[in-house]
Amino acid sequence: MIVEERMRTYINSLDMGNTPFLEELEKEALAGRVPIIRKEMQSFLKMFLAATRPMKILEVGTAVGFSTLLMCEYGPENLKITTIENYEKRIPIARENFRKAGRESQIEFLTGDAGEILKELTGTYDLIFMDAAKGQYINWLPDVLQLMHKGSVLVSDNVLQEGDIIESHYLVERRNRTIYKRMRQYLYELKHNPLLETSILPLGDGASISVKKEELYA
Ligand SMILES: C[S@@+](CC[C@H](N)C(=O)[O-])C[C@H]1O[C@@H](n2cnc3c(N)ncnc32)[C@H](O)[C@@H]1O
Repeated sequence: MIVEERMRTYINSLDMGNTPFLEELEKEALAGRVPIIRKEMQSFLKMFLAATRPMKILEVGTAVGFSTLLMCEYGPENLKITTIENYEKRIPIARENFRKAGRESQIEFLTGDAGEILKELTGTYDLIFMDAAKGQYINWLPDVLQLMHKGSVLVSDNVLQEGDIIESHYLVERRNRTIYKRMRQYLYELKHNPLLETSILPLGDGASISVKKEELYA
């Protein structure tokens, strides 16, 4: 927990909640132990969508489609979202949720490994939401940068790893060390890459918000 529990509870107690469909989907996902964005990230995304009104979003990590549908619901009317998932068990559930929500026409659902799919995508996105294998963010970044235009925003979730990120390497459980090392590299790169301006926030499990300042090949 990177934000004190009472503070988190207080902030979340002010939340007005989502549409009944999303509330139900969230309950189902949590009951099935599907990892979905926390209340804090939900609230951030809703505010961000209202402020910036992105028309094209790329999401990496669909799970059962909760965050995809939240962005459809709270984004501009003609918003298009491309979302990527590789876990076979979750793919049909996400597809069914998109159908039930009546949002199929807005969503391009790409199934397979994000590392491969990102290389094949063309064009650019106004918002890229990274919420998949945390240890891969650093490897995917070069391809992600190619998919951003000047002013595109990259939001990456769970970057502070329940607080592990500030611990000494030796205090991090052995099985988490690779992810820890790669996430530190990722955050360093986000803060030092001259193409990006990044803010790292203790929001939920930690989120980084980066805006692309220049075209890669201007
Ligand atoms: C935290 S969940 C996404 C939650 C979703 N964004 C939401 O809030 O509703 C991360 C998802 O990324 C998927 N994932 C992990 N590595 C991936 C990869 N290399 N390619 C595609 N999907 C991947 C996992 O299977 C998992 O369902």
